[in-house]
Amino acid sequence: MRKYEYRGVIFDLDGVLTDTAHYHYLAWKNLAESVGANFDESFNEQLKGVDRMGSLNLILAASGKNFSDADKLALADQKNLHYQSLIAQLSPADLLPGAAESLQQIRAAGLKTALASVSKNAQAVIERLGIADQFDVVVDAAKIKNSKPDPEIFLTAAAGLDLTSDECFGIEDSIAGIRAIKSASMFALGIGSPVVLTEADVVIAGLHQFSLQDYLK
Ligand code: G6P
Ligand code: MG
Repeated sequence: MRKYEYRGVIFDLDGVLTDTAHYHYLAWKNLAESVGANFDESFNEQLKGVDRMGSLNLILAASGKNFSDADKLALADQKNLHYQSLIAQLSPADLLPGAAESLQQIRAAGLKTALASVSKNAQAVIERLGIADQFDVVVDAAKIKNSKPDPEIFLTAAAGLDLTSDECFGIEDSIAGIRAIKSASMFALGIGSPVVLTEADVVIAGLHQFSLQDYLK
C-alpha cells in the first residue's frame, strides 16, 4: 500500500457515505422496465458514478428503441422524481457504518475533506444526512462539465482544497469513479468488492473498515 503524506481526502457520496446507490438502482430499474430494457445489478455497476443523462442513454441503448430528446428529458425527470421520493426521508441514521467516524478521524488528524459527486441531489443528501459542514469543499454536477470516469471532478476538488493530486486520495464505490481517481493521478480506495473494483489501489468492504493510519506514513 502506498504511504504518503496525505493532506486531503476526497469522498464520493452515493454508495460510500450512504446507501443512496441502492435508491438510484431502484429508480433506474423501474425506468428500464418501463422502456423494455433488461436491467440487473451487473448492468447497474456501469451506471454508478455516471451522471443522469449518461446513465439514461446507456439504458435506452439497451432497450433497442429510439427516443427523441424531449422523450429523454421526460424520462430523466421521471427517474429523478422517483429517486427524490426515495430519499425524502433520509436522516443522519442513514449514514453507512463508519461514515461519520471516518470523516471525524480525518478532520481530527488535520486533513482536509472534499465531496466529489456528480449527483444534482448531492447537496440535499448531505444536508439530510447532517454532514454538510464536514466538507471543506463540495464539488457536484453544477461545478463540472464531464462526468466520471473523467478526472475533472477529483481535480476540481483537489484544486478547491488547494492541494496537488499527490496530496489527496479518493474514496469510491463505482468503476467509473475509481477510473476518475486514477486518471487524476490519485491513490484510489475502493468501497465494495475487489472483483468489481479491479483498478482500485486498495478495496475495503465499507468505511467501517477504514482507519486513516493505514494510509499515512
Ligand atoms: C451519482 C450516482 C449515479 C447517479 C448520478 C447522478 O454519480 O452514483 O448513480 O446517476 O450521481 O445523480 P442525479 O441525482 O443527478 O440523478
Ligand atoms: Mg458512488
